[in-house]
Amino acid sequence: MKKRIYIFTGKGGVGKTSVAAAHAMKSAGDGHKTILISTDMAHNLGDLFEIQLGREPKYITDNLDAYEIDPEYVMEHDFSAIMKSLNGFFPQGEGISLADYGMLPGMEELFALLKINEIYQNGAYERIIVDCAPTGETLTLLKFPELLSWYMEKLFPVGKVAVKVLSPIAKQLYKVELPNRAAMNDIEKIYLKFYELQELLKNRETTSVRLVALSEKMVVEETKRNYMYMNLYNYNVDGLYINRILPDNLDNPFFDEWLKIQRKYKEQLYESFAAVPIYEIPWYDEEVRGMKAVNRICSDALTGDEVFEVREITQRESFEQNSKGYMLKLSLPFVEKSEVDLYQSDSEVVIKIGNFKRSIPLPNVLRTYVVTSAKMENGILNIQFEKGEMDYEQ
Ligand SMILES: Nc1ncnc2c1ncn2[C@@H]1O[C@H](COP(=O)(O)OP(=O)(O)OP(=O)(O)O)[C@@H](O)[C@H]1O
Ligand SMILES: [Mg+2]
Repeated sequence: MKKRIYIFTGKGGVGKTSVAAAHAMKSAGDGHKTILISTDMAHNLGDLFEIQLGREPKYITDNLDAYEIDPEYVMEHDFSAIMKSLNGFFPQGEGISLADYGMLPGMEELFALLKINEIYQNGAYERIIVDCAPTGETLTLLKFPELLSWYMEKLFPVGKVAVKVLSPIAKQLYKVELPNRAAMNDIEKIYLKFYELQELLKNRETTSVRLVALSEKMVVEETKRNYMYMNLYNYNVDGLYINRILPDNLDNPFFDEWLKIQRKYKEQLYESFAAVPIYEIPWYDEEVRGMKAVNRICSDALTGDEVFEVREITQRESFEQNSKGYMLKLSLPFVEKSEVDLYQSDSEVVIKIGNFKRSIPLPNVLRTYVVTSAKMENGILNIQFEKGEMDYEQ
C-alpha cells in the first residue's frame, strides 16, 4: 500500500476545508482508507460534517475518519517523553514550561505535524488529507521542521565530539545545560523525528501541497506568493483549485462586472500555474455543509483518478558542475531578484525573501568555493560558486 499525504492550503476563507473534505469523501468513496485531519486551531471539520469530533480520530463514513488535532493534548498524551526531555534542556522557573519559553515559537503546530508523521507511520490509512490554517500559518508550520533541525544541528550536533566544542557558547547564548550521555540519546531521538518529518513532507512521491484560490486580485497575488515560498522550501505543489466560479449564464446585470473580474484573474491563474493541474469549482447557491454538499464538489470538479496522483512538478534544488565551478539552481517563480538576499557561511548558503529564510547546506566539496554571482532566469535562481577564499571582513 502506497501511503500519501495531501496538504490543502490557501488564503483565509477561500474554501480549503470544503475542498479538502471533498477529496476525503471522494477518496473514501473510491475505497481507499482515508483520514481527514485539521491542523487549523480554529477547527471547522466538525461544523462541516455537522458532527462533534473528539481528541482522537472519529468515524465519518465507510473508509473515512476525521480528526481535529489538539496540539496540547497531543503534546501531553503522545509525546510526553519528548516534552520531558526537551523541558530538561531549558532552565525552568516556578510554573514555567517550555511552551512559555518563547525560544521555539510554533511549538504547538510542530506537534500537530509530528502527529501527522505518526499517523503516516503507524496508522492504517492510505491517504492523509490535511486541512490547514490560512497561508501565513501554514508556511510557518512547513518551514518549522527545517528550522528546528537546523537549530538542533547547531545546538546538539549529532556527531558527539562537536558537542564539547559548542557547548560553552551554546550554554551562554541559550542557557542550555550540557547534555549528558543519556540525554544525548533523547536528543538524537528527537532530532531523528524532526528529520524524518522533514523528509516525509518534502518527499515528492509522498506529499502533495494543493493550493485553493479564488479568481480575484488579492487572492491570486497571495496564491502566487504562497507558491513561490512553497518552492523556496522545496515542497511539491501539484494542484490548484479555483473555487467559487460564477456560472456564465447569470441573467443579472449586478454580476456583469464580477464575471469580467473572474475571467481576468482566472486567465492569470492559468498563465501563472501552467505547470500545475488546475481544477475549477462552481459557486453554489448554498453553503458547503453536510456530506451531500461536499459530494457536490466531488461530482462537479473531482472526477477522474488523476485527482490523487502525486506529480513531481517543480525541480528539486540542484547543484550542477559547470566550467567555472558549480551552479546551485532553485525554482522561485514570481520573485524579483531585488527581493532576494543571499548570504554564505562556510557550511551553508542562506536565501532570504521577505520574512522567510532558508538555509541550504553546502556539500563538502563546495566548502572551498564562494558565491560569485546570482541570477534570476525564468523563475529559476542560479547561484554560481567558484573556487576561492571567503572574505569574512565584508
Ligand atoms: N464553491 C462554494 N460555493 C458556495 N459556498 C462555498 C463554496 N466553497 C466554500 N463555500 C463556503 O465558504 C465558506 C468558507 O469555506 P471554507 O470553510 O471551506 O473555507 P476555508 O478556506 O477553510 O476558511 P478558513 O480560512 O476560515 O478555514 C464556508 O461557509 C463554505 O460553506
Ligand atoms: Mg478552514
